[in-house]
Amino acid sequence: MATSPVLRLDSVSCWFGSVAALSSVNLAIAAGERVALVGPSGAGKSTLLSLLNGSLMPTEGEVWVLARSLNKLSGQSRRKLQRQIGTVYQQHNLVANLSVIHNVNAGHLGRWPLWKAVVSLIWPQQVLVAQQALTQLGLGDKLYARTERLSGGQQQRVALARVMVQNPAIVLADEPVASVDPARSHNVMQLLCDSVRQLGQDRTLVVSLHDVALAKAYCDRIIGLRQGQIQFDLPSAAVGEQQLTRLYALEDAA
Ligand SMILES: Nc1ncnc2c1ncn2[C@@H]1O[C@H](COP(=O)(O)OP(=O)(O)OP(=O)(O)O)[C@@H](O)[C@H]1O
Ligand SMILES: [Mg+2]
Repeated sequence: MATSPVLRLDSVSCWFGSVAALSSVNLAIAAGERVALVGPSGAGKSTLLSLLNGSLMPTEGEVWVLARSLNKLSGQSRRKLQRQIGTVYQQHNLVANLSVIHNVNAGHLGRWPLWKAVVSLIWPQQVLVAQQALTQLGLGDKLYARTERLSGGQQQRVALARVMVQNPAIVLADEPVASVDPARSHNVMQLLCDSVRQLGQDRTLVVSLHDVALAKAYCDRIIGLRQGQIQFDLPSAAVGEQQLTRLYALEDAA
């Protein structure tokens, strides 16, 4: 069995003007891993996720996805590779005035020919696939509801259903529980992990979280980022007070 990582960063740095959002980061993530990115605000978690899905290019270094260098690919090849990555954003990125089915079916875009995508806006295609994903997420009766009429939590599940129909090898989630109350955050993480597992045991999840308890409960590995650098990269069970105190220490005490 090939064991090359599904995601790899080689000496990656990312600058925004004079701000180093990430500095010389090396990282390898294998198929099937569930990895949490934790760290204080501004540590570089979102930047790292954007580099992993190719929405941002590094200033230095190389990003590898499924053994292909993202920076070296262009146009169609890069888009094809990017289809293997599904991203769940905190703000969901749904089209508010469209029905739920259209937002879920956006997960097929890129794979569908243009004519099919256009036809689907009038006569939704693959309704059963969408229905199945929504049912698994407890929204089976919302297929034709207007997305903007759903609650924030329901919209988040629509975003998850969209990723499920995309059926990617890698799922990235940027603070999926940031806008949810603490009780519901467990529910969201459970749904996220269940959805990824449902796609296949080899599917990889990388999720940024502010809540370390959630990271420990749902992920196998935790990467602590601080000031654009990896401060620790450990199995969840090995992350304790010592690491967390250092990770979240205020600047002048660090
Ligand atoms: N588009 C951008 N333009 C300028 N600076 C940016 C941009 N994106 C991120 N940064 C800067 O890069 C650094 C890392 O930001 P990033 O958003 O990755 O942090 P984060 O760990 O996701 O923080 P948070 O927990 O608040 O979401 C910060 O100093 C931020 O201000
Ligand atoms: Mg962020």
